Amino acid sequence: MNAPVVTIDGPSGSGKGTLCQMLALKLGWHLLDSGALYRLTGMAADRHGVSLEDEAAVAALASALDVEFLPGEQGQPSRVILEGDDVSGELRTETTGNLASRVAVLPAVRQALLQRQRDFACAPGLIADGRDMGTVVFPEAPVKVYLTASAEERAQRRYKQLKEKGNDVNLATLLEEIQLRDRRDSEREHAPLKPADDAIVVDSSGLDIDQVFARVLDEVSARI
Ligand code: C5P
Repeated sequence: MNAPVVTIDGPSGSGKGTLCQMLALKLGWHLLDSGALYRLTGMAADRHGVSLEDEAAVAALASALDVEFLPGEQGQPSRVILEGDDVSGELRTETTGNLASRVAVLPAVRQALLQRQRDFACAPGLIADGRDMGTVVFPEAPVKVYLTASAEERAQRRYKQLKEKGNDVNLATLLEEIQLRDRRDSEREHAPLKPADDAIVVDSSGLDIDQVFARVLDEVSARI
């Protein structure tokens, strides 16, 4: 690994995504959204009618993912193109998140995505967002952060986000989905969600994103 890597792991809704975007922007570094690769693999399986039980077939889809990440133009959000179709909206839904966490339990899928993720580490540096960035994908990273928050707080945040977008959502259902995904991610045998031994654990419950950003940026400045 030639370029410095900062890994940010944690459960869904902990604020990792926003934090990683803020760090990448501030430092002018690349950003790896590893969850998007698992989401796209789940979507590809769904599109091609591949059963999630068929590990070899899902891994083959993961290896051959035909995806383009396009930067947003003039203040527009970035776009993700899967097999020629703009899937940016569908990518972030809870349904896709659930598909992702089901393909993510398959070791052959994780293996298929490993090198693709490592290839993101190039100069001037990389912010890597995921579940196993510090434990498996970039074990040598000089700064590892594990960002967490209570399931209730994460469900509240997601509820607010979705409501603001005009979606009809139910808080109790969101909490159940988050708890189910947490369980699947933490209890799986391969690369389970857990802090690396040398990770700085930050609990974002009760903190706003600017406070989390300042805390993590201090750590990065002190170590790199
Ligand atoms: O972070 P995001 O919500 O996009 O991740 C979707 C799912 O992909 C997670 O719930 C997890 O099951 C899986 N994932 C993973 N390892 C990563 C990133 C995501 O297993 N590094």
